[in-house]
Amino acid sequence: MIKLPDPSINVIFGGTGDLARRKLLPALVHLIKSKHIDPRCHLFAVATEDLDDAGYRNFVGGALVAAGVQADDIQLLTGDNVHYHSIGKGSASDFAGLAARLATLEQAHGLPGNRAFYLALPPQVFGATIDGLGSAGLNKSAGWTRIIVEKPFGKDLATAIELNKHVHRHFEERQIYRIDHYLGKETVQNLMVLRFANTIFESVWNRDRVEAVQITVAENLGVGTRAGYYDKSGGAFRDMLQNHLTQLFTLVAMEIPSAYEADAIRYEKIKVLRSTRAIDPARVVRGRYGSGTVAGNPVPGYLEEQGIEPTSTTETFVALELYVDNWRWNGVPFYLRTGKRMGKTLSQIAVRLRSTPAALFDSFGAKHETADTLLISLQPDSGFSLHFDVKVPGSPFRTERIPLDFRYAARFPNMPEAYETLLLDVLEGDQTLFVHADEVEQSWKLYSPVVAAPTPIHDYPAGTWGPPEATHLAIPDTELWQETWNDKQ
Ligand code: BG6
Repeated sequence: MIKLPDPSINVIFGGTGDLARRKLLPALVHLIKSKHIDPRCHLFAVATEDLDDAGYRNFVGGALVAAGVQADDIQLLTGDNVHYHSIGKGSASDFAGLAARLATLEQAHGLPGNRAFYLALPPQVFGATIDGLGSAGLNKSAGWTRIIVEKPFGKDLATAIELNKHVHRHFEERQIYRIDHYLGKETVQNLMVLRFANTIFESVWNRDRVEAVQITVAENLGVGTRAGYYDKSGGAFRDMLQNHLTQLFTLVAMEIPSAYEADAIRYEKIKVLRSTRAIDPARVVRGRYGSGTVAGNPVPGYLEEQGIEPTSTTETFVALELYVDNWRWNGVPFYLRTGKRMGKTLSQIAVRLRSTPAALFDSFGAKHETADTLLISLQPDSGFSLHFDVKVPGSPFRTERIPLDFRYAARFPNMPEAYETLLLDVLEGDQTLFVHADEVEQSWKLYSPVVAAPTPIHDYPAGTWGPPEATHLAIPDTELWQETWNDKQ
């Protein structure tokens, strides 16, 4: 029997927005259906549109249909457990009105005053919303009060510090849940289990055995309908690298925490960032997709996308090299690469081990140029494979490189969505998979100098692996890349 988190009111600011429609509302339905959250919980959406409760319930119904939620389940989140509040211009009296409605709802239903405020909002209005909550006294209640802040958290070091100060004016760190949805992915959480529950991996996880690590998050999608956000606040650096890829990097590089709990894990991740050497701008390559072909269809280049200024200098691809100057990793390059409109959607971490010290089988076909590699694939096909040499049976004596393969889907067909995991963690008060204030500032400290003095931008045709100028920022092992690529066609 699962112990349910105490009943709460889950307030979503930006309740009519894209994130709510596509991710948060479906995640809530799944949590209600799987009986992970208390049926006495209420959803309280806040937005600027002039809607009433009935109008919002209709909206939720439409969003759930569009998200592919089964017809029978839609009533789980379209009944009288769903409410709407128009925040108008976001004045003090608008927030006071919200506070009054929440209090009335809690009284009417005998709720204990637990409240989660989800800021599913554009970053420009984070500050005003946090102030509004604070000034209406909504930063505390009779039960617990938690605030969830979406990315991007700042656009450089100065703005991240400023935003942290802003939230801390009204909320304590233990109330703040900075979301990075990559941390909610099962396969990302599995990185820690793989490393710390299996001696075989941990014993090679160091500079003596590892030659290089490569973290790739490639997407075949373009900027889509998010031009406004992406071109001004995003770009590959701010939208993906500072957050998602950096999370993967710290999970791969961190020391073994003293316990599987929030403070211990977040402390180790912060230590990695503190030990990471300042980035050499000569080891950073930015790119931007031009027109090309993706999955057989012609697609426009970034500058031709709707809403993008022809003078834009935003990158859609970045590759760079990091070094962690500590005992474990000194001298081992970590290559981080991400891009939009690449040939394929694929996220993976390649840990390349050093070659054997003596080339005993070289003349029989052993591929020394492709040393043993652990490939951890996060999506679309989650699992891992370890590539190594075996003897081909019979004669003449010959060796061949083959993968030892594990696919999650073959063993565990049902994987929860990242947002389900993270929403549930908020309700349970578990900050393990959320980003600490110091962590976000440390990562900006690393990237801010490069973002402030951008390196030249190189065009690449949509549907490729990015600009050729970035090839040197990857494990020089094209054969392995081709193998994985072809396997997945
Ligand atoms: C988001 C970015 O945080 O992550 C998007 O803003 C990106 O630009 C998305 O497409 C990728 O997430 P996932 O879960 O599809 O890999």
